[in-house]
Amino acid sequence: MELNRRTVIAGAAAAGVAATALGGTAHASDGGKPVKSLFGKLADGTKVYRWSLQNGGTRLKVLSYGGVVQSLEIPDRHGRYANVSLGFGSVDEYVASSPYFGALIGRYGNRIGKGRFTLDGKSYQLSVNDGVNSLHGGAKGFDKRVWDVEGFVKGSDVGLYLHYTSVDGEMGYPGTLKVKVTYTLTRHGDWRIDYEAVTDKATVVNLTSHMYWNLAGEGSGTIEDHELTIAASRYTPTDTGLIPTGELAKVSGTPFDFRKGKTVGRDIRAGHVQQVQAKGYDHNWVLDKGITARPEHVATLRDPRSGRTLHIATDQPGLQFYSGNFLDGTLTGSGGRTYRQGDALCLETQHFPDSPNQAAFPSTVLRPGQVYRSTTVHTFGN
Ligand code: BGC
Repeated sequence: MELNRRTVIAGAAAAGVAATALGGTAHASDGGKPVKSLFGKLADGTKVYRWSLQNGGTRLKVLSYGGVVQSLEIPDRHGRYANVSLGFGSVDEYVASSPYFGALIGRYGNRIGKGRFTLDGKSYQLSVNDGVNSLHGGAKGFDKRVWDVEGFVKGSDVGLYLHYTSVDGEMGYPGTLKVKVTYTLTRHGDWRIDYEAVTDKATVVNLTSHMYWNLAGEGSGTIEDHELTIAASRYTPTDTGLIPTGELAKVSGTPFDFRKGKTVGRDIRAGHVQQVQAKGYDHNWVLDKGITARPEHVATLRDPRSGRTLHIATDQPGLQFYSGNFLDGTLTGSGGRTYRQGDALCLETQHFPDSPNQAAFPSTVLRPGQVYRSTTVHTFGN
């Protein structure tokens, strides 16, 4: 029975046909065309699709809702697959309670103080959704929008184009912003994200992906034993609302020094005032390489038990390392287990938080005629 089912679904996948009609999950074949199936519906009846794609041994499932990576499977050193990304099993859960699991974040990744900024002499008030501040684009950011998704096969790459148009004034941001995100799986199994955006009025943009990684598998417990390396000599300390103070502080001699690599748990209870107010790590690391024309390696995460390893390369100047501090055991993940504090961590490539209010930080302003571009590459090993 099980064998037959697989054969039927694989046949449908090979033909590039959605397998929803079969009542099961659609599977893609390695290097084959991404496969689309119905995942669920929003309250207003809007259909949410799930795209399955696979290449070089990496398996990805992506929702049209929020561009959410619902599942990312990679093998361990014995070839055993696990989904290393926290997520939910239904659209309803994503809508009701997702802390940005696997989602695309925009227009502005992380916080803007008091949700306010001034650009070209004009002040803007954004949607405020984190105390007095605006977080991840406001109350209804890009993570809560339905994207137009299209699958592609290009040479040895397979991937998805995700489009979303954010209208002038949405969440308080000026300008109509046309966004295109490309998720590519290469034949080596790398997952590359290319972000592009254009605007018709001066605005601010800072796009990222909010993956919650647990390389031992989602729902398998803490990530405190994961080894993390971040190529950054400085980070941006914050106030109690997690807004950068403007200082670029040295990591040297503090728990924030991940330059030589150490387990996440080693210094997480060191009691540094910055950790106490963030309930762990929830900071922007100032990458030593700065802004680069091409993605450069900035971080490595390794689970010693499974051997699964993630390398991150980016052209962006910052990396938000968030140690899953606000997971509190109230959410049940796609695998049926609850998520507790520290059961995953996020490594968000970005411009620095609150840049629109910090003249000394690299600018996040986008003007008509310019193209916002940002690329992050995830390479997996075991
Ligand atoms: C932020 C955290 C926030 C989390 C959302 C991270 O990017 O830095 O402060 O709680 O996203 O779950």
